[in-house]
Amino acid sequence: NNSEQFAGLHLLISAGGTREPLDPVRFLGNRSSGKQGLALAQVAAARGARITFVAAHVDQTVETMAGRLPNTEVVPVGTAAELNDVMRSRADTADVIVMAAAVADYRPADIAELKIKKEDAGDELTLQLVKNPDILAGLASTKRPGQTVVGFAAETATDRANLLELGRAKAKRKGADLLVLNRVGWSEGFGTDSNTVVVVNAAGDIADEATGSKRDVAEAVLDAVLAARA
Ligand code: C5P
Repeated sequence: NNSEQFAGLHLLISAGGTREPLDPVRFLGNRSSGKQGLALAQVAAARGARITFVAAHVDQTVETMAGRLPNTEVVPVGTAAELNDVMRSRADTADVIVMAAAVADYRPADIAELKIKKEDAGDELTLQLVKNPDILAGLASTKRPGQTVVGFAAETATDRANLLELGRAKAKRKGADLLVLNRVGWSEGFGTDSNTVVVVNAAGDIADEATGSKRDVAEAVLDAVLAARA
């Protein structure tokens, strides 16, 4: 029985995809559904955690189900900057931080006040983008003692060895305690109901592996979190 494993612990979980506005009606987004983040919240809730679920853009069902979880507060956000603000302000009381959100690496340099019109822009329109802060790296660098920081890395890797190579380099760059690696492509990862992951620690060593539903992956990730905290 593991229903008390996370009793007394506060988990701060981000999920979904950020949306970076271009003008009042358009944004740059991504295909994240928020399902993996929801699965983590569901498993953590079943194991007794208190949860803050920071939802960037997620599927409607994800929002509905997150809202029904016990001991869970859902905080909606839009842009990477908003997500960063919420994560930083809630990190103080978090025992475990999981960045499952797909964060835009870049945002438009300017947000047009009025709708961008093709009559004005002509045949070619160039967008200038500026880099967003790396939220995960920031949280890892200001981590409190006893706090566990977990990130995800979706890679378009050619195979498992390539996935590990890319993931290990990223684990070192980000400084998170655990990095959950998964292969993505047009038919894998985003929006689907199952997933294959390898969890590595900050040194790049394999901490856990899982294939199955996003729920199975969530179980494995939270097992790795417990093992890392032991
Ligand atoms: O570098 P990459 O985007 O692959 O890293 C993915 C991990 O970093 C995810 O956990 C994601 O939530 C996080 N991330 C972030 N801030 C960014 C970009 C990614 O926290 N600007």
